[in-house]
Amino acid sequence: MTEMPAVEGSELRGEVALVTGAGRGIGLAIARELALGGAKVAVVDVDPATVDSAAASLPGEGHRGYSADVRNASEVQAVVERVEVEVGPLSILVNNAGITRDNLLLRMSEEEWDGVLAVNLKGVFLVTKAAVRGMMKRRKGAIVNIASVIGLMGNAGQANYAASKAGLLGFTKSVARELASRGIRCNAVAPGFIRTAMTEKLPTEVVEGLQARIPLGTLGEPEDVAGVVRFLVGPRARYITGQVLAVDGGMVMAG
Ligand SMILES: NC(=O)c1ccc[n+]([C@@H]2O[C@H](COP(=O)([O-])OP(=O)(O)OC[C@H]3O[C@@H](n4cnc5c(N)ncnc54)[C@H](O)[C@@H]3O)[C@@H](O)[C@H]2O)c1
Repeated sequence: MTEMPAVEGSELRGEVALVTGAGRGIGLAIARELALGGAKVAVVDVDPATVDSAAASLPGEGHRGYSADVRNASEVQAVVERVEVEVGPLSILVNNAGITRDNLLLRMSEEEWDGVLAVNLKGVFLVTKAAVRGMMKRRKGAIVNIASVIGLMGNAGQANYAASKAGLLGFTKSVARELASRGIRCNAVAPGFIRTAMTEKLPTEVVEGLQARIPLGTLGEPEDVAGVVRFLVGPRARYITGQVLAVDGGMVMAG
């Protein structure tokens, strides 16, 4: 696919965003996109080697990197507190950190099941709970959860991942209903197959098979997801909450 042009803007000026799993891949592209829109970004990732260079690579000033594991409630709480002091009061949260541990059902271990649910679902609960406290007081916030088309359509070998992402959609809609009256919106983006380290592991014939199932005929790029997240957290989406937007080249067509 041709490169996505970087669109500088100011619609997110004054906003402070926390993006989990932002050391690389889709999370880093989201962090960059929010920074292009004028937000200050806290880059959070379990991999400490990536966070500072990722934050330093973003356009604009005031961004910072933090290493934390979204599975760990006390680490999450501490990072949110530090971000609010060091970067500013949070108004945007993007729950992007996610993992796969694929296996066929009968071969899937409890560790593979628990490991995926712990990051993809419990991690989102912990970070959201820590981040919304301040947002509720300020009556302002926008949350985007990065789900997956696999949570909508299922996939052989990914029962744990599909369950975690489907669960994330129920979480998104519940949070949207619960916090709408406090000025907080919550939406989900469901990417299809996006070119990152997560999909790089796939053998060529699998990628070719996938491409044949994508109406637009190609894998997406992290920027395709990031642009939609920027829209959803921004002022032009002020009347949108509780929605799931697939960014998948047409694989899943809702309705
Ligand atoms: N790549 C795709 O095709 C695709 C498709 C649909 C959905 N997604 C979703 O998009 C999100 C990002 O995926 P990606 O392809 O960029 O993956 P990636 O593996 O390239 O990046 C994920 C990032 O999350 C971080 N992370 C993992 N566990 C963490 C934890 N416990 N705490 C904090 N950070 C942690 C990793 O260190 C890494 O930097 C995931 O939620 C994934 O499920 C990806």
